[in-house]
Amino acid sequence: MSTANIESILQEKRLFPPAAEFSQNAHIKSAEDYQRLYDKAKANPEAFWAELAEQELDWFQKWDTVLDWQPPFAKWFVNGKINISHNCLDRHLTTANKNKAAIIWEGEPGDSRTITYAQLHREVSQFANALKQLGVKKGDTVGIYMPMIPEAAVAMLACARIGAPHSVVFGGFSAEALRDRLNDAKAKVVITADGGFRKDSIVALKPQVDKALENNAAPSVENVLVVQRTKQDIEMQSGRDYWWHDLQKDVSADCPAEPMDAEDVLFVLYTSGSTGKPKGVVHTTGGYNLYSHMTTKWIFDLQDTDVYWCTADVGWITGHSYIVYGPLSNGATTVMYEGAPRKSNPGCFWDVVEKYGVTVFYTAPTAIRAFIKMGDEHPKARDLSSLRLLGTVGEPINPEAWMWYHQVIGGEKCPIVDTWWQTETGGVMITPLPGAIPTKPGSATRPFPGILADIVDLDGNPVKDNEGGYLVVRHPWPGMMRTVYGDPDRFRRTYWEHIAPKDGKYLYFAGDGARKDEDGYFWVMGRVDDVLNISGHRLGTMEVESALVSHPAVAEAAVVGKPDEVKGEEIVAFVTLEGGNQGSEELNKELKKHVVSEIGAIARPGEIRFTDALPKTRSGKIMRRLLRNLAAGQEVSGDTSTLEDISVLDKLRTEA
Ligand code: WTA
Repeated sequence: MSTANIESILQEKRLFPPAAEFSQNAHIKSAEDYQRLYDKAKANPEAFWAELAEQELDWFQKWDTVLDWQPPFAKWFVNGKINISHNCLDRHLTTANKNKAAIIWEGEPGDSRTITYAQLHREVSQFANALKQLGVKKGDTVGIYMPMIPEAAVAMLACARIGAPHSVVFGGFSAEALRDRLNDAKAKVVITADGGFRKDSIVALKPQVDKALENNAAPSVENVLVVQRTKQDIEMQSGRDYWWHDLQKDVSADCPAEPMDAEDVLFVLYTSGSTGKPKGVVHTTGGYNLYSHMTTKWIFDLQDTDVYWCTADVGWITGHSYIVYGPLSNGATTVMYEGAPRKSNPGCFWDVVEKYGVTVFYTAPTAIRAFIKMGDEHPKARDLSSLRLLGTVGEPINPEAWMWYHQVIGGEKCPIVDTWWQTETGGVMITPLPGAIPTKPGSATRPFPGILADIVDLDGNPVKDNEGGYLVVRHPWPGMMRTVYGDPDRFRRTYWEHIAPKDGKYLYFAGDGARKDEDGYFWVMGRVDDVLNISGHRLGTMEVESALVSHPAVAEAAVVGKPDEVKGEEIVAFVTLEGGNQGSEELNKELKKHVVSEIGAIARPGEIRFTDALPKTRSGKIMRRLLRNLAAGQEVSGDTSTLEDISVLDKLRTEA
């Protein structure tokens, strides 16, 4: 985040209380109601969650123990039996929701579909039976590599129904990135589509899967199931590959949901960290169901008549919790959109809002900034009067973007929920409850009831109001990740050992710096580790560096983020070359392409700078802090005494 941003946030004093009409009808109606819930949950978190689990979800069998906490490993609702697909589908069939729209889908070329709860239940059950026929059993992992089409949600729910953990890989990831994830998750089946519509082009998906599986490079994968979406020519390998529509033929729609243990794995979702390869974040069934359900209900204040739209992709956690599981568990109508903001269609989001009368709208600051740039005339030319609540997620929102969202999109009448959370947390952790908490532009405000968030120093001591520190959580919550897939030790090291209180207590820390103001409002400043946030997507500097170094011309690479008006951050890579290679315009382009083919388009470096040497400490660590200054065009600040060779810095400056 740029210094200018931080300064404007520090001076932000505006307060926007929710309108009385909004609060009257909201689930949580006042600051006092919020405080009561918060205090009750804080006094006895287990009792608080148990009461909600009982009230809000269907269980096949009740749990014996609410929380079994062997730090840092938590089990919630021990011995409880539950199925999230049952909670998202079956239980709505005996209510007025049976023929309500579950998913309203808007395709990129303008096609659309509305699927009721009864229809979705049927499709999911059929596909679950199709998976079973292929030999997919409880406990087998299924990879999902799909465009934003309803079949992606059907696939996830079908896996959940039979107890096969899913691992969704964002459709924009390359074959290499897909292969790594499939291998780590040991996926038995991959569900994909021939292709997808992304912005103004057709992207290949099945050919990427073929590439990922080439030469038996992902040996666990036995079958590939393919949805026909774009109708482009693709190869189908006989005996391995099946069309989705063929599999759905003549399959029974009777597939009772498997009673799952509350702690059975629901999904593994890969995310970037500061070191090493992406981590498989493991979420389990019962706790995740409860946490995604409650946060959706209270934060988006879902009412029967709402048309709720989250613009994320199902490849990310936001899509899991707030397009699929949270809304459907609540019996809401959830909109799914295949398109994305772009110059060639600057009104695309607002067309969807108008077409379906969207009432609750949840997007990312990077999208908001892109729309600001495209001009107010586009939203102004559409009828956005149906909107009653707005949300943002993914990165800190600058107050100017917040104000634009409030005025131009929300018509000054919609509360804005700025929701802070992470793949690891399963659901939103810090956020206003829209009918209860007055908002301040740029602040995620207060913790969700049951979340004991704090700002501390490295020893775990709380810092003073308005002093920066590390954002931690002091007590387990139902939606927390349970482990890193296949690597419990990495789980402990990554999240529980950075902050070390003297009393030996475990604090959860996943890398963000923040401060709390005199009203107890949280202001998240961004990552304090080597994780980049490009358009709200997490990328580890290491991942991009490894991709660069895998090119034969590259000797060493160091990657940093540079502030960018729309994307939040842009990647700048400093690269040294293997002897004999010369930096050139051509090589620059080639390296960018190489990173895209190794990771995906989201990782394309904005800038590559060739250099003779990288600034390192005497112990050989690259001093990224200095490179960050250089990338941003600033003077190098802070201590440079640990630098092994100061002349490297002078050279880098002159090369820039
Ligand atoms: C950042 C996305 C400030 C933060 C749900 C976090 C935010 C990372 C906010 C997680 C917000 C997310 N304000 N920063 N409202 N929301 N972040 O795992 O740095 O893709 O650690 O989960 O995004 O990204 P992830």
